[in-house]
Amino acid sequence: EIDFFFPKQRTLAVIKPDATEEHREKILEEIHAGGFSVTQLKETALSREMAEEFYKEHREKPFFGQLVEFMCRGPCMMLVLTKENAVEEWRAMMGPTDPDQAKATSPMSLRARFASDILHNSVHGASNEQHAEEKIRFIFGEICPDAELNRDGETDG
Ligand code: PPS
Repeated sequence: EIDFFFPKQRTLAVIKPDATEEHREKILEEIHAGGFSVTQLKETALSREMAEEFYKEHREKPFFGQLVEFMCRGPCMMLVLTKENAVEEWRAMMGPTDPDQAKATSPMSLRARFASDILHNSVHGASNEQHAEEKIRFIFGEICPDAELNRDGETDG
């Protein structure tokens, strides 16, 4: 029997402060049912400074202040999800940023089911592999050697 090797990828997932206890449990169930391994997990309340750093790519956006305010208003569940093609698969599972769009195009997605609006949208996922590694390091403060092996250059982040 031949064992094929499929390289795993990691992504950072965040269950945001608007997700109720019940939503959190359902989201975690979906994550497991979707074949992701949760390789790291912590619940943490972001400070304002951390939230600003976490969303630094959006610093110039008109909604930046609101986004930071919201993200540090309560505890976030931070997860490292590991799977083949984890970045893309987690984003697909979340659905579009805006829940109205999510309901229209992917009614089974997490945001279609649990989000209330584009700001209070229940979950976050890193947008590409480079961001994923950067945000994992920022939140969990370490570098996983496996991830280094899977990274295929830093040109197209
Ligand atoms: S972008 O520019 O395409 O990367 O932006 P997008 O992915 O759509 O959104 C980035 C995060 O900003 C939040 N967001 C908003 N908050 C409040 N008001 C408005 N109009 C708005 N648009 C986007 C959105 O919840 C995204 O959060 P994350 O955690 O990245 O999903």
